[in-house]
Amino acid sequence: MSKAVAQQAEEQEVIIDLAKANAIIDKYIDLPGNLMPVLQAVQDSYGYIPQVAADLIAERLNVYPSQIYGVLTFYAQFHLKPRGRFIIRVCVGTACHVQGAQRIKETFFNLLHIAHTETSADLRFTFEEVACLGACGMAPLAMVNDDTYGKMTVQKVDEIVAKYSAIPLD
Ligand code: FES
Repeated sequence: MSKAVAQQAEEQEVIIDLAKANAIIDKYIDLPGNLMPVLQAVQDSYGYIPQVAADLIAERLNVYPSQIYGVLTFYAQFHLKPRGRFIIRVCVGTACHVQGAQRIKETFFNLLHIAHTETSADLRFTFEEVACLGACGMAPLAMVNDDTYGKMTVQKVDEIVAKYSAIPLD
């Protein structure tokens, strides 16, 4: 790791342990077409792609940082900021919209003090509004990670927030 990357790692508010990223790069470094697998593995490991890890990947794989950021911003699967343990998705598609999705969304915002694409300070929740989730008969619809909640009401929002707030973070 160059001095510049090491220094940048230290300067980040949260110190990122780059040992995991280095181990991933070691595993793929001699394979052709290794950029995407490395990025995916780093995201799986950290939950997102820390900037300092992206810079390390660029340096060690001998790829321009701009090329890496091009990939990271093109593919929606990659995240450049830390995400919550629980990803709350509220559908704002047409069927959900007419059944009151806006009120459901705003209730989550008020309870969690976060808005669309934001993550709570304790890294428990990330909120995302999404287009049709394909279960319009259950509108308005919300999901928390892989759990689906249909026929959402304001009371159900309270229950969901209480349920996932009670689960200890690792
Ligand atoms: S519009 Fe919400 S599930 Fe289809």
